[in-house]
Amino acid sequence: MSNTLRCLTLALSLPLLAARGAAQVAPLIANIAARQTTSLDGEWQAIVDPYDVGALDYRAQPLKNNHAFYMNYKPQSESELIEYDFDTSGQLHVPGDWNTQRESLLFYEGSVWYKRSFDYAKSPKNRLFLHFGACNYLAAVYLNGEELGEHEGGFTPFDFEITDRVRAHGNFLVLRINNSRGRDQVPTVNTDWWNYGGITRPVTLVEVPETFVQDYFVQLEKGSTHQIRGWLQLNGKQLQQNATIRIPEAGLSKTFQTDSGGRAEFSFNADLTLWSPENPKLYSVEIVGETDQVIEWIGFRSIEVRGTDILLNGKSVFLRGISIHEEAPMRPGRAWSDDDARTLLSWARGLDCNFIRLAHYPHNESMLRMADQMGLMVWAEVPVYWTIQWESPQTLRNAENQLNAMIARDHNRSALIIYSVANETPVSDARNRFLRQLIQDAHSADPTRLVSAALQANEVVERNRITIHIHDPIANDLDVLGNNEYIGWYVRRPEDADLIEWTSEYSKPLIMSEFGGDARFGYHADARTRWTEEYQENLYEHQIAMLKRIPFLRGMTPWILKDFRSPRRTLPRLEDYFNRKGLVSDQGEKKKAYFVLQKFYRELQSAQPSK
Ligand code: GCU
Repeated sequence: MSNTLRCLTLALSLPLLAARGAAQVAPLIANIAARQTTSLDGEWQAIVDPYDVGALDYRAQPLKNNHAFYMNYKPQSESELIEYDFDTSGQLHVPGDWNTQRESLLFYEGSVWYKRSFDYAKSPKNRLFLHFGACNYLAAVYLNGEELGEHEGGFTPFDFEITDRVRAHGNFLVLRINNSRGRDQVPTVNTDWWNYGGITRPVTLVEVPETFVQDYFVQLEKGSTHQIRGWLQLNGKQLQQNATIRIPEAGLSKTFQTDSGGRAEFSFNADLTLWSPENPKLYSVEIVGETDQVIEWIGFRSIEVRGTDILLNGKSVFLRGISIHEEAPMRPGRAWSDDDARTLLSWARGLDCNFIRLAHYPHNESMLRMADQMGLMVWAEVPVYWTIQWESPQTLRNAENQLNAMIARDHNRSALIIYSVANETPVSDARNRFLRQLIQDAHSADPTRLVSAALQANEVVERNRITIHIHDPIANDLDVLGNNEYIGWYVRRPEDADLIEWTSEYSKPLIMSEFGGDARFGYHADARTRWTEEYQENLYEHQIAMLKRIPFLRGMTPWILKDFRSPRRTLPRLEDYFNRKGLVSDQGEKKKAYFVLQKFYRELQSAQPSK
């Protein structure tokens, strides 16, 4: 669908929302898995609709009658004209991208309508919400022929309350998902990853008491290893309650009063075994109100920077990382499940990583919970990637919404240590203002974690010395500096890394957030032959030798764990629409460079001072 038509759809459908008093996106409910839930995953009926005829008439005006697909209308006589029928239009599996479910949809960008029916017997006084793990990119949600609302952003969860709209029998839920790219969107039109569209994460009905525990934050206070500071938020009518935080294994039980807005803030001393990659200790934490309670596994650790050092629980740590895209490890398409997360993170663990960069957007919640359990620290990021429309207020709001939703969903995950607000963004005044706003948002939403961005340093050649100097107008606003470089692939030869010195004008830690080169698994020749495993192996050897010489380097996340699909990578036989910088092929085969990195990390690990 053209960008104009899409904007028209967006613009036209918004008044529709107001007109019908449609629901708006509800506040995010924390820890869905711990609630009373009913899964709506499975086979949904689906209609592929490249011209949005399910929403717009031939004058591109919104359809307000039974011709609109969300009405799921059936002809009442043999003469009635209706040109759609979910029941005979085929199915798509939810969760899952549509691109890898049908050959005809591999490159598809446009609208697909999904529909499923369900019955639901809600307990009389309870409330009912629809929860979506994520839909890429724009979702319009309809229940029983009425629009609930829209959500923009392909990688963050959203909820709608349907307490007063759900029936005991015969509900029909319809979503229009549009994954068209747009200049003003986040990300914008140009990315180096596949534009997987669809209901890409689980869909769940969540039943809660009239007044329920909506969200909470239970972590160690910034810079402390024995003081818990947090808050909890109730939602409903009976907002002033006694609320208790219990950590039975630590012998803790603290009771507070929530205020008239349903919020309580708390701080108390706690003698805890701290979470770390070596000992990923999680505690059962009970958040108990008078009308609702939630139990959550939470780890406690402190993360901070001191000069150019990063301290985990007060001790210097080197982040032995790897970058990961959210692609399933052993099948095509988006990852979303516990099994996907377990396999991807076990590959990272196999490298002897203690750190992962979940690029370039918020990954599914299973990845964060599995990182908590497996002891892998996490760099999470929003898709503020490359040439974002820095001057657009709606683009900034969109980026802020995605950042806040990512923080709201994951702020109790001890593994999560860094929020990144940008990747390789061209420097300008407008970009600096935009990113400073996001950095400020992250610090105020969660003062306990570090904020970074993947920057691009500048090369300076003087006589025969090559210096790469880290300088960026937003560097002073960041806690940790990320930097992407491709010495040996996009610039220079791998051997040139031996001549390069790195300098920085900031007393801040550096994480080399990307480096690497492509190799087609099984393609072997000498180290000068591009695309071979030997070229990639040689590149890693020279890169690692260079990185070892950077005194303010405190981590690295080479690009990338696994080959991944990209529309930019068209070279037949070598790329075939895959970016081949993975250390593991898209079939799970380990390339020679995998073992170069593994050897380096094992040396680092054995050189670490004993705990
Ligand atoms: C960039 C970018 C990645 C991209 C990589 C590459 O640094 O951040 O998203 O995939 O380079 O060119 O392979």
